[in-house]
Amino acid sequence: MSTEVRVPIEREADIVVARQKGRELAASTGFSNTDQTIIALAISEMARNIISYAGTGEIVLTPLDDGARRGILIVARDEGPGIADIDLAMRDGYSTGKSLGVGLPGTKRIMDEFHLSSVLGLGTTITMKRWLR
Ligand SMILES: Nc1ncnc2c1ncn2[C@@H]1O[C@H](COP(=O)(O)OP(=O)(O)O)[C@@H](O)[C@H]1O
Ligand SMILES: [Mg+2]
Repeated sequence: MSTEVRVPIEREADIVVARQKGRELAASTGFSNTDQTIIALAISEMARNIISYAGTGEIVLTPLDDGARRGILIVARDEGPGIADIDLAMRDGYSTGKSLGVGLPGTKRIMDEFHLSSVLGLGTTITMKRWLR
C-alpha cells in the first residue's frame, strides 16, 4: 500500500498544485511551517524546470519512515531533452533560460539529500529527501 502523491506537471498551474500537495504532505508528516515552505520551494523549482526545459513531467511525493526518523521523498522526472553537462547545470548562475540559474544549486542546498540523473535525449530525474529533525 502506497501513500505516494503523484502530480502530473503539464502546465503552469500544475506547479501550484504540486507545491500545495507537498506542503500538505509535509504538514501531515510533522514538518514545521518553515520546513513546509522549504519543501514547497524545492518542489516548485523542480516543477518550473520541467515546464521550462522539458515541457511535461511529474512530481511524486512519498512520506518516509526509516524507523528512526520521518521525512519526505520528492522525485521530479521528465522525458525531456536531458542535461548535457550536469556539473555546469549545478553551478550558481548557470542558466540556458532567462532566469537566475540558482534553482538546482539552491534546491540542493536546502534539501538533506539531492541527486540529479539525466541522460541526453531521454530525460531528467531529480531525487530529493528532507528529514524531520
Ligand atoms: N528538467 C530539466 N530538463 C532539461 N534541462 C534542465 C532541467 N532542469 C534544469 N535544466 C537546465 O539546467 C539549467 C539550470 O537550472 P536552474 O538551476 O534551475 O536555473 P534556471 O532554471 O534559472 O535556468 C537550466 O537553465 C537548464 O539548462
Ligand atoms: Mg530553474
